[in-house]
Amino acid sequence: MSERVSNGPSPVGRIYARIAGTGSYLPDKLLTNDDLAKQVDTSDEWIRSRTGIRERHIAAEGQTTGDLGYHAAVRAMEAAGVVASEIDMIIVGTTTPDLIFPSTACLIQARIGANGCAALDVNAACSGFVYALSVADKFIRCGDARTVLVIGAETLSRIVDWTERTTCVLFGDGAGAVVLKADSETGILSTHLHADGAKKELLWNPVGVSSGFKHDQPNGGSRIHMKGNDVFKYAVKALDGVVDETLEANGLSKHDLDWLIPHQANLRIIEATAKRLDMSMDRVVVTVDKHGNTSSGSVPLALDEAVRSGRVQRGQLLLLEAFGGGFTWGSALLRY
Ligand code: COA
Repeated sequence: MSERVSNGPSPVGRIYARIAGTGSYLPDKLLTNDDLAKQVDTSDEWIRSRTGIRERHIAAEGQTTGDLGYHAAVRAMEAAGVVASEIDMIIVGTTTPDLIFPSTACLIQARIGANGCAALDVNAACSGFVYALSVADKFIRCGDARTVLVIGAETLSRIVDWTERTTCVLFGDGAGAVVLKADSETGILSTHLHADGAKKELLWNPVGVSSGFKHDQPNGGSRIHMKGNDVFKYAVKALDGVVDETLEANGLSKHDLDWLIPHQANLRIIEATAKRLDMSMDRVVVTVDKHGNTSSGSVPLALDEAVRSGRVQRGQLLLLEAFGGGFTWGSALLRY
């Protein structure tokens, strides 16, 4: 596997990045499978049995990724008891930024009033949040930041072809966020990131700034192309590999985990990872049925839901994982 980035178990005196608070936000508009069946040749039964998705949220006209991310961030800051002036850095995982520039992180920074702190976006498609979390962890571990706001936010609905049944049924809009704080006791134990750019055409949106928008096509020609079967097979294998790698790096067994908080792309992919970890589904956080695939938003949305419902408790060991276009994939093991 290429581009291996890992950090192993704790040396003595280490600084950890600990999740101090979580937040999330979903746009009001709900789109059910039955709604979709009125637009394209599909059915609730097909979508549910192939993906586990029942409904998804769709951003209102004019509502941007930055709007969703902002609301999730405010909720995470409230939960953490952190004010804007304490934030050293904002990192947004997104593949659907509001603008080419400034970054969505800069736009959110201005709205929360965290003037002067560092702000950047990370584009790793659906792995964006896990990548962003890993970057934030490194800044805290090395002592360059003490409080980092990490957001995963997307409006995939903007780049979906709503006449293409093989992709439009899968995605939704939403955002989640965490505030990480430096901690001397515990927090993120390790992160593991990977990519395989040679597989780019299995899941991609081949339109962009430098390669050119197609002005004679709707949405500038921007839409998601996917070879679903190939993505499915690669994702299951890659996630098997990264969960094994994560446990091994920390000298842990799969039975030590309290919760799996996976990227919410497809219930069957989630079940395959849970099986690999010998985890019953009641220890796996599943939101794909209600959210669809919200790309970078999915892991922090699932985490926030599990925290606020009281399922995830302080001191528990959580494994986060994600897979997305690129291909990119990765994991984070943390003590909450
Ligand atoms: N409704 C009804 N039928 C549909 C459909 C839909 N929304 N989408 C595709 N079909 C049809 C196909 O046209 C095909 O018909 P055919 O047999 O007459 O040619 C049939 O269903 C089977 O298509 P296939 O693509 O083989 O289905 P699948 O079982 O692989 O399921 C996915 C498709 C997309 C659900 C599945 O491949 C998947 O989840 N892949 C991973 C995608 C993913 O997670 N991407 C994001 C990663 S971050």
